[in-house]
Amino acid sequence: MKTPTTPALYDEAAPSWARTEAVLLSDYTARPFILDAVTPLKGARVLDLGCGEGYVSRQFAKQAPARLLSIDISAGMIDLAQAAEEASPQGIEYQVGSATELELNEEFDQIVAVFLFNYLKCEEMASVLKNVHRHLAPGGSFLFTVPHPSFPFLNRPASPPFFFETNGLDYYSARDHQLEGKIWRRDGVHVPVRCVHKPMEEYFKALEEAGFKGAPRVTELSVTEEHLEMDPAFFGPLRGLPLHVAFEVTR
Ligand SMILES: C[S@@+](CC[C@H](N)C(=O)[O-])C[C@H]1O[C@@H](n2cnc3c(N)ncnc32)[C@H](O)[C@@H]1O
Repeated sequence: MKTPTTPALYDEAAPSWARTEAVLLSDYTARPFILDAVTPLKGARVLDLGCGEGYVSRQFAKQAPARLLSIDISAGMIDLAQAAEEASPQGIEYQVGSATELELNEEFDQIVAVFLFNYLKCEEMASVLKNVHRHLAPGGSFLFTVPHPSFPFLNRPASPPFFFETNGLDYYSARDHQLEGKIWRRDGVHVPVRCVHKPMEEYFKALEEAGFKGAPRVTELSVTEEHLEMDPAFFGPLRGLPLHVAFEVTR
């Protein structure tokens, strides 16, 4: 069976992504970290690449940035984001577009890409990183999260709350291969996700080639004791496993 394109995948799954509070596994294990790690956003110019239906953007907007532009390739996701903005205006501008073709006549103090690069081939990620570098104001910060590159190869069963199919590939041979997966919500609904696999070194190489010369700050994210206390049945299967990685760089 032919796999859908990324915009088609997200247009179709958009209603299951729409949420006003934490419900997806990564709403607990990754997005709170992002909200803590961004530079103070009050008065800042912020760009959210691969913003989806706006869950993270809406939380950024609460910090009163001077400008918040949020871009996604899926018209279905942007329609939902726009509907939420119209229902409860926060001053977020949404656009349908690809992060690989970013041509904006403005610069930003903070750019984020929350689980965007797992949809892009290595070469596409390299061009997005160059675009990001070009659109960052001097001293500006870029923060992104991706699935932990070792996660798909940990021999976990294809079961909740998160997995990718490896199709017999290994950590090295899977480079640039698209692995399909699922991530669950705590209410039992799952959404399709995919991971164009990149070994860890790929991120460092691409950041340096894009012009980010300093070492990135890297954080490996997993379930915490608080998660396990809150809902042991949901989070328990992932105890002790590396789920996501956050990279932070400054221009
Ligand atoms: C896993 S979702 C994350 C959405 C959002 N960042 C969040 O954290 O809720 C990945 C998003 O990346 C978008 N995406 C994939 N490729 C893209 C591209 N080339 N340019 C912009 N968005 C893209 C998808 O449409 C999808 O909405």
